[in-house]
Amino acid sequence: MSDSPQIAPLLFAWYGRVGRDLPWRHTRAPYRIWLSEIMLQQTTVTAVIPYYQCFLARFPDIGVLAAAAAEEVVEAWAGLGYYSRARNLHAAARQVMELHNGCFPETLEELITLPGIGRSTAGAILAIAHQERGVILDGNVRRVLVRLFALEGDPRSSAAEKQLWLWAESLTPAERADDYAQAIMDLGATCCTPTKPNCPECPLAVHCQAFTQGRQDELPQARAAKAVPTVQQVGLLLADKRGRLLVRRRPMNGLLGGLWEFPTREVLPGATPEASARLLLQELGGSGSVEEAGKVAHAYSHFKLDLRFYRGKAGTAGYVGEGEHDWLTAAALRELALHGAHKKALKFI
Ligand code: ADE
Repeated sequence: MSDSPQIAPLLFAWYGRVGRDLPWRHTRAPYRIWLSEIMLQQTTVTAVIPYYQCFLARFPDIGVLAAAAAEEVVEAWAGLGYYSRARNLHAAARQVMELHNGCFPETLEELITLPGIGRSTAGAILAIAHQERGVILDGNVRRVLVRLFALEGDPRSSAAEKQLWLWAESLTPAERADDYAQAIMDLGATCCTPTKPNCPECPLAVHCQAFTQGRQDELPQARAAKAVPTVQQVGLLLADKRGRLLVRRRPMNGLLGGLWEFPTREVLPGATPEASARLLLQELGGSGSVEEAGKVAHAYSHFKLDLRFYRGKAGTAGYVGEGEHDWLTAAALRELALHGAHKKALKFI
């Protein structure tokens, strides 16, 4: 579209002044750029930085990553959330080794065949690693464009999506697509923020229709909140004679696959959480009473978890359940790849 505002030069000047110095901005290595983009898909820069550095220390190149066990990769991801990213990353590494001789693909068509890489992530990799004219439309860029063009309605609708990609395409410059990508993502993250956007400091304010109309706080329009179910569970801090606690590993192929957790079960319909915890204790070969330890709340993308923890004593038969398990001290538990909800329970021990 020829009538798109010329925003690239304004973004370059702004990025030169206030762009962030981030670890993945010192490399062009496709493996590193890919890793950073996957980590940044649903997680903030601040949370990603330490994980990015540890991950690279453990899996320094794509060959090492492909050769690792899926469980190891999930462990390195523990605490970052959205674990399908880790499983996809690992599967994609194997695909690159097997189908591309270990060379990261350099075309949009090939990139989007890799698990976990959608159109926007592929665009970012093309732009940043290969200095091609890759087009991006992640959450931050989406918000910038919605305000720039004062787009009404649900920005996730398919009509909006189509329109936003057209704008994203037309605004991306032929030269310096890498700087453009980094700059517009930074603008969304630091200036054109979801609430209280800092329009006086924004290099695009002169072109921004939302700002011109004084509607920057109303756009993007909020999606109607989805009703999210709450799942009630009980968890057991089951101690053996030496005071070590039982943990189990979740099966690799399900939600939070490969991560560790204390034993849990859903609260029985019509029963109290305490009765459900006693049943769980019996299922695990323990007997006697349970004592309430505390409650944690955790939100996932499609449900909320309300999890009450109880303390109990293990029976003499040891572990009587299925799957991988371990009995660990408090110190060892703090080092373990527990998933987020169960990490919160560490404060009870
Ligand atoms: N979000 C997604 N990709 C990013 C990048 N390369 N820099 C900062 N934030 C991002």
